This record gives sequence, C-alpha cells and structure tokens, in this order.
Amino acid sequence: MQHTSPSAVPFDLDTALRERALLLAPMEDVSDALFRKLCRDRGADLCVTEFVNVEGLLRGCKGAAHKIDLLPGDQPTAIQIYGADGERLAEAAEVAERSEPAWIDINCGCWVPKIARRGAGAGWLREPDAMVSMAKMVVERVSMPVTVKTRIGWSFDDELPIVELAKRLEGVGVRALTIHCRTANMGHSGKADWSWAKKAKDVVSIPVIVNGDVNGADEAETALRETGCNGVMVGRRAIEHPWVFREIRARIDRGETVAPPTREERFALCREHLAACIEERGEMRAVRAMRRYYPGYLHGLNGAGIMRRTLNATDEAARVFALFDAWQAGDLEAARDAAE
Ligand SMILES: Cc1cc2nc3c(=O)[nH]c(=O)nc-3n(C[C@H](O)[C@H](O)[C@H](O)COP(=O)(O)O)c2cc1C
Repeated sequence: MQHTSPSAVPFDLDTALRERALLLAPMEDVSDALFRKLCRDRGADLCVTEFVNVEGLLRGCKGAAHKIDLLPGDQPTAIQIYGADGERLAEAAEVAERSEPAWIDINCGCWVPKIARRGAGAGWLREPDAMVSMAKMVVERVSMPVTVKTRIGWSFDDELPIVELAKRLEGVGVRALTIHCRTANMGHSGKADWSWAKKAKDVVSIPVIVNGDVNGADEAETALRETGCNGVMVGRRAIEHPWVFREIRARIDRGETVAPPTREERFALCREHLAACIEERGEMRAVRAMRRYYPGYLHGLNGAGIMRRTLNATDEAARVFALFDAWQAGDLEAARDAAE
C-alpha cells in the first residue's frame, strides 16, 4: 500500500481497508504524530489518533486541538473521537473533519470506568439502539467516511450484541468496523476471541478489522485466515516492538518471515524516538516518557536489565545518549558511568 499525502492520490477508504490492511491502534498517550511516524516507517499502513474528547474539542481546548492537528506527512490517519452524546459527537466530527483526516472513527470500545460508565466509549454497547442512532447522526453530519471501533459487547453475562450491531451500523452508513474481540468487562485481560470478528464479518459487506492480541506475524496470519477480516490492528505490541508491522507485512503479503531487528536498529530507534520526543515535549518530560519504550526497544540486548535501571534514574538527555553510545560500543561499564 502506498503512503501518499492527500494532495497526491485521493484517499479511498474502501480500497485502503479492503485487503490485508495493517493499522496502528489508537492508544492514548502513545499513538501521537511521532509514534505514528515511527510505526509507519516500519510498515503500518494506516493510523488512528488517540481518542479525542468531544467536549474538549468543542471547547477548543489546546490538548484536543493538538491531537487533531495532522501534519502533511501524517497520512492516512483517522481522527478518533469519543463522547456520550450523539449530537455532540456529530458536532465534534464536523470540527475534526476540518483537519482533513483520512476518515473519522468513533470510539465505542473504551472500557475505562470513568468513560464507559458515563455512556461514552464502550458505554454505548449497553444501549445498542442509541449507539446506532448516534452513528447515524455522525455519518449524516460529515462528508467523509465514518467508522466505528468497538468491542464484542459489555459483558458475557448478557447476549453479545456485536453481530446484530455490525449489521445495523452498516445499515446507517458506517463504512468499516474495528472489533476489539473482548467485552468491556474484560478490560485488557483474558484472551481476545477472534471468532466474534468472523461472526460479524460474515453478516456485513463493509470492511471489518480484527483487533486484540494480534502480536506478531503468526497471529496476524491466523487472525486473517480464521476471521476472513480485511485487516488487523495492532496496539500494545507496537509499543514494545514497532517492527511488528514490517514483520506482519512481509508475512501476509509474501509469506515471508523477516529477521528480527538488529542491535543497531534497536539503538537507532531509541535515539530517533528520544530526539523527536525532546523536540515535542522538552527534555525532562521526553526522557521520562521514553522509559516505557526501552524494555521493548532494547529487549534481549546484553546488559538490558542493568541499563534499564540506569535509564530510569537519569533525567538528562545527554547522559542517555552517552549511555546508548557506550552500550552500543559494547562497554557496559562506561555506559553506566555515562548516565551517573
Ligand atoms: C495505553 C493504551 C491506550 C489506549 N487508548 C485507546 C484509545 O484512545 N482509543 C481506542 O479506541 N482504543 C484505545 N486502546 C485500545 C487499543 O486500541 C486496542 O484496542 C487494545 O489495546 C487491544 O489491542 P492489542 O491487543 O493489539 O493491544 C488503548 C490501549 C492501550 C494499551
């Protein structure tokens, strides 16, 4: 799939999602413009912003405005919005549309109690009728494609609504669905059950993207084969291993297994991500924010445990870069000294 700016070839969602699409999941505090670029460079075709609160967006709140501000190279990217009220979601979709995303995605899957209990995110799954009316309202308000990302239902205690919902959402003009194959009650625990994505896919003609526990090429291949879905979306695995996208791409396009990232690639990613993060957030916040990524980025390298502890105790970027240099050169002692 080609990565083009909107000015080059007009974006066509159906084409983009029709066959073996590979998406970076929306993740709060993770899937920002910088992380989207890192993942795109490693094979993610399509990205979705972290969810943006509709009230923040409609109030013109700085944080929300920043999240929907898409730079020219950041395409195709969808803007994801969340809220508990259909009318407000529709208004916010109009605001988001002005940023010219590739499409607009509605979050109907966030399980976090302070969001879902208020009726936003996965809260919509408790009221399928209201969810369908809300989606219809949003679809009718904007001229660009609208998609929904949701879960299979609220809880296994009730009948799971996803199959019926998929049909009804398609009926009101939703152009694609991403199904995180857990219930809201499961949060991130337990295993995603991809069979629900298949059941939903079987009853609709719009593209369906399967999400949840697609952690590598094997899983992506299996998920696509077992569900017949049009694509896969990867979340948490990308945080620790953004190379997952090229690994999946190679497998699902060519049946190949690519070599894992080299030591050099691992250090290069640490440096690139840290440097870009400093530009975005300033030194101290960037150095601290990067700590969540190192366990994955530096996984398996000699001395990783000790170095991680050292990295966690250092707030100065120059020391972190010096540590990487010495460590990459194979001098663990000098690396530790550099950071102290
Ligand atoms: C840190 C974090 C933040 C998330 N934020 C969002 C979000 O903003 N919008 C959304 O639809 N899902 C969000 N999710 C859920 C993911 O998009 C995805 O559905 C979930 O992690 C399951 O996929 P995975 O097994 O590949 O991680 C988030 C998940 C994580 C771990």
